[in-house]
Amino acid sequence: MIRKLRVGNLLLPSNILMAPLAGYTCYPFRMLAYELGAGLCFTEMTSANGLKYQDRANCRLLLTTEKEKIKAVQLLGGDPAVMEHTACGELLKDYHIIDINMGCPVPNVFKSGEGSALMLDLPRAAALIRSCKKSGKIVTVKCRAGVWPDHRIAAEFARMCEAAGADLITIHGRTRSMMYDGRPWYDEIEQAKAAVSIPVIANGGIFSSGQARKVMEDTGADGVMIARYGLENPFIFRDLTGTPCEKTFLQILLEQMSLASRYYDETYTLKYIRSLASYGMKKRPGTKQYKQSLYQSGSLEELEEVIRKIFSNSESIPFT
Ligand SMILES: Cc1cc2nc3c(=O)[nH]c(=O)nc-3n(C[C@H](O)[C@H](O)[C@H](O)COP(=O)(O)O)c2cc1C
Repeated sequence: MIRKLRVGNLLLPSNILMAPLAGYTCYPFRMLAYELGAGLCFTEMTSANGLKYQDRANCRLLLTTEKEKIKAVQLLGGDPAVMEHTACGELLKDYHIIDINMGCPVPNVFKSGEGSALMLDLPRAAALIRSCKKSGKIVTVKCRAGVWPDHRIAAEFARMCEAAGADLITIHGRTRSMMYDGRPWYDEIEQAKAAVSIPVIANGGIFSSGQARKVMEDTGADGVMIARYGLENPFIFRDLTGTPCEKTFLQILLEQMSLASRYYDETYTLKYIRSLASYGMKKRPGTKQYKQSLYQSGSLEELEEVIRKIFSNSESIPFT
């Protein structure tokens, strides 16, 4: 069940993928997930329009080094010409995979016809895939089960993606109207898997190794994508894939801090490490009292001190 996965001309080291997560899946986090056994990691969603105008915030999301062996960027966009320009452009020259975001539920994104709005416009969604394919790179799609409870079209959408040339599709089993809550429609993923020959990855609501295996079994999906739980407990990649790693959560956080501060400024590093530590504190008893000091720490030195306090105390407490 847990195995290597072929996508286009690439063989991914495992079929356990780390989801794109805005605010989190920067270069340091992706390196961590790969180290722990993730088969594929994506940048945070990056606006194709923003890249066209070389907007600094969006360009920073592309940061990578030669140490990241498989590079996958997630693009958000709704205009096939802009997507083609970006996909074929110099900024993405190091990237092997382009993932197109067709699932973002955020109102502004939806209103502008991007993200999950593309599930209401299959011809345009297909045109976006074809535009990105002109780059010669592997093109993948991340979508939802549909937009509303009575608009669940995962199988039809998967067929469209395959016909347009997509190499893999990830389905977040919730509809746009569910945002991030509620039980995903895993049967929609199962139907999509049965409808196409390209790999189908199941996403949504996986918060333990057992759930990951069950979702794969129930849907027949070729792999799973872990999102929020990967922040809370990145060791899930190690546990599922059997990748050796003896590090503690504290060690991981300190390494992340050091790597982030090598590539980003202090403001960004503080924000990233605070958010990551905050996820890591979930379900760790006795850590709540420190939350305020985590957010009050004004320098990396102060933050390190707080993190040491929080995670040395709870190191032996296993994840639930
Ligand atoms: C904070 C946050 C940021 C997210 N950012 C992205 C993103 O940039 N691109 C994307 O396709 N999905 C994004 N998602 C959705 C996740 O990738 C995933 O589909 C969703 O959280 C469901 O998986 P889960 O239930 O395992 O968390 C984000 C979700 C959260 C909570």
